Amino acid sequence: MGFPERRMRRLRRTDTLRRMVRETRLSVDNLIYPMFACPGTNVRTPIGAMPGQFQLSVDQLVKDAHGLVKTGVPAVILFGIPERKDALGTEAYNDKAPVQRAVRALKKEFGDALVVITDVCLCEYTDHGHCGMLDGHRVLNDETLELLAKEALSHVRAGADMVAPSDMMDGRVGFLREELDEAGFEHIPIMAYAAKHASVFYGPFREAAESAPKFGDRKSYQMDPANAREAMVEMLLDEEEGADILMVKPAGPCLDLIRMARDEFDLPLAAYQVSGEFSMIKAAAERGWLDHDRAMMESLLAIRRAGADMILTYFAPEAARLLNGR
Ligand code: PBG
Repeated sequence: MGFPERRMRRLRRTDTLRRMVRETRLSVDNLIYPMFACPGTNVRTPIGAMPGQFQLSVDQLVKDAHGLVKTGVPAVILFGIPERKDALGTEAYNDKAPVQRAVRALKKEFGDALVVITDVCLCEYTDHGHCGMLDGHRVLNDETLELLAKEALSHVRAGADMVAPSDMMDGRVGFLREELDEAGFEHIPIMAYAAKHASVFYGPFREAAESAPKFGDRKSYQMDPANAREAMVEMLLDEEEGADILMVKPAGPCLDLIRMARDEFDLPLAAYQVSGEFSMIKAAAERGWLDHDRAMMESLLAIRRAGADMILTYFAPEAARLLNGR
């Protein structure tokens, strides 16, 4: 049946009709908010390239989390800005470093009402800015796993509900699973940054986390953005190694991968709407070139439509307020 019998516009006539046939929904339940924990007290350092985002000392981070929890957003993912950096990223596994202190403070304040996830990676903590241990200019794989495990254990000992390795070393999900289980943390899930491209869209984050590599780039461990089949292999490996949640990153530029992953795997699927995706919308909105709220919501909805269950996004508090009608 075609035109004139078939008229697609019939069900688009009113807002109520459109509501009835809407296929994809965004809920606060889908959102995870990334936050940056820094040393000190009463510190709120604005991140220039990410309007509205801050490096927060633990007291301020807890304060902002209060507002977030009120909106119904269920989870945060924490990144850390350490007091000092060295070749081995020692502060990553210091039990008194900002992330570990933030985890303790958040769990004390909110208990099970807030899921606290920690990003497990070394790039914020190494003086060279790479995600692993170096031999000359080579990023070592197997040696790095030991450091990542120390970091993850330090996070879960502080009370983290979930760990999210983002380093892209081979075998790290299986290694972390083993180390967590051995230490009695068999109940702690792993959200694996499974398909993570070496993307230009992480640019603003590297200012936020002060984690830009001092030489070279991350292309020897993060994936070539040209590759989709390889992304499926990465996901399959992480699933086999025991990941509980698979992640695609970035989100907007990888909607095809999100769809492929949704069709291929039955594990919960997360997508990270990264700093550059956020900042592009903020910048265009500041210039009056895009409607901020509509651009935010359409970008999030597209990620849901592609198949993501969870979205890590800097828009989480603003989107939640909009979803709650405030
Ligand atoms: C750490 C990490 C990065 C991001 C999340 N975890 C940076 C990178 O890989 O360079 C990027 C997040 C964003 O851009 O919002 N490896």
